[in-house]
Order: sequence, then structure tokens, then C-alpha cells
Amino acid sequence: MFNPVFLRLYILLTQLKNQILVHIMKANIHITGDGSHTLFVPALNEFYHSAKGAFSESMHVFINLGFYSVANSAIINILEVGFGTGLNCLLTFIEAREKKNKIFYDALEPFPLQWDLVSKLNYSSIISFRDSEKWMEKIHRCDTCRWINLTDRFSIRKRVMKIEEAELQAENYDLVYYDAFGPNAQPEMWKLYNFKKIFYSLKRGGILVTYCAKGQVRRDLQSAGFFVERLPGPPGKREVLRAKKKVK
Ligand SMILES: C[S@@+](CC[C@H](N)C(=O)[O-])C[C@H]1O[C@@H](n2cnc3c(N)ncnc32)[C@H](O)[C@@H]1O
Repeated sequence: MFNPVFLRLYILLTQLKNQILVHIMKANIHITGDGSHTLFVPALNEFYHSAKGAFSESMHVFINLGFYSVANSAIINILEVGFGTGLNCLLTFIEAREKKNKIFYDALEPFPLQWDLVSKLNYSSIISFRDSEKWMEKIHRCDTCRWINLTDRFSIRKRVMKIEEAELQAENYDLVYYDAFGPNAQPEMWKLYNFKKIFYSLKRGGILVTYCAKGQVRRDLQSAGFFVERLPGPPGKREVLRAKKKVK
């Protein structure tokens, strides 16, 4: 049996730890090479997106190489590891609306950003989609940890947790956006055990896309069972990776 005092103490300590981490992860707005904003985290010396172009990177890696690889399916289950500003989510929402897919967007983010900060990012003025600001706000403000129907074709669940802690169902996802901070800043995010976990959670034929093309990451993805392609990257980046769970 749990002692209620210890349980309460445990919850308080966990909340305190998260508040300290959120403080450490404090981010500043930065203008990238294509004019779109990103965030910079001084404590990690890391940007949320490519400094050469946040919008260009998201469009190229996650939408063109990721979403459009599976866009012919009527129903698409997506996992995003590292929800951050929600830019990948907004772009997916917009593309799926055009293509009329039904999307289940499952996002993991242990350090959710405040709307006060995200609302200052200039994505709505760069994206020519009516009401993009309204949708961005809805995406950000929706409750965490349970499925919400943003529209009849777009459902989202944002879990405030790390990939390491998340329970992922077997053969569930069609597409994974692996958008963690780089291996130098967060080496634990790029470990084989995370890739094995994602491999297990992908359907046969499902894919993972990431902006990171490091040799060790590619080899670990292969060790996890993926067939890995090196593809041309967005401006300023030679290559990115797309990994497929092959149909037997
Ligand atoms: C490169 S940024 C994400 C960019 C984001 N997709 C966007 O478009 O803004 C990496 C994100 O991963 C989150 N993160 C950090 N540790 C994580 C973990 N263990 N599991 C999942 N996400 C994590 C960070 O808080 C951050 O939001």
C-alpha cells in the first residue's frame, strides 16, 4: 500500500524538478536564415530548428520527406518526439487538410512551452494558410495527456513526458517525426534503445524521419532493424535520414 504522505511528497518533488528543468530550458527567439523564427536554449547551446531556416527545415524533412511518404493513406497515425513550438504539427495539420487525411497526432514533450512565448513566433505570417494563428493557438492550448478532436479529421494528444518514459503501443504508428535536440546536447535521445522502442511501435512499412544524419545514428537505426536512406537535406544541411520498417 502507498503511504499517502510519501505519495504527496513524491508528487511535489516531481513538480519541483519539472519547474527547475523548465527554468533551465528557458529559450529566446532567434531569426533563422529563411526569416522564420526559432528558439535558442542557452543552457544547451541548441536551437529548436536549423539556424539556416526553421520553416524550410520542417517543410523539407518532416512534411516533404515524412508526411508525403505516407500521405496516400486515408488514416495516418503520427508520433512526434519533441513537440516544442508545434511547427511540425501545424504544418501537418495544414497539409492533411488539403489531402483530406484523418490524422491522429501523438506528441511527446517533457518541457512544454508557454503560449505567451509561442504566440510571438512569426509562423502565421510565413505560412499562407487562413487562420493559421488560430489553429496554432488551439494546438497549443488544448489539454495535455488525452486525445482531443481539433476537427473531425485531426485528433491530437500531447503527453508531457520523455520518449524514455512513454508507453508506445506495438505496430501503431505510420510515421514518426524524430525531432530531438542534437546528439551533442542530448546524447541520451539518440540511443539504440529509443530507436528499438520506436521500431516496435511502427507499423510494417512505417517510417521515421529526422534531420540528424550522423553516422552513429544511422548505424543505430539500422541495428534497431530499420532500412535507412540518406536523403538531401534542407538549405545548409547535406543529408538527413529516413528510416523504414520494412514490410517482410
Ligand atoms: C529540436 S527541439 C523540437 C522542435 C520541435 N519539433 C519544433 O518544431 O519546435 C527538441 C524538443 O525535444 C524536447 N525533448 C527534450 N528531451 C526530450 C525527451 N527525452 N523526450 C521527448 N522530447 C524531448 C525538447 O523539450 C524540445 O522541445
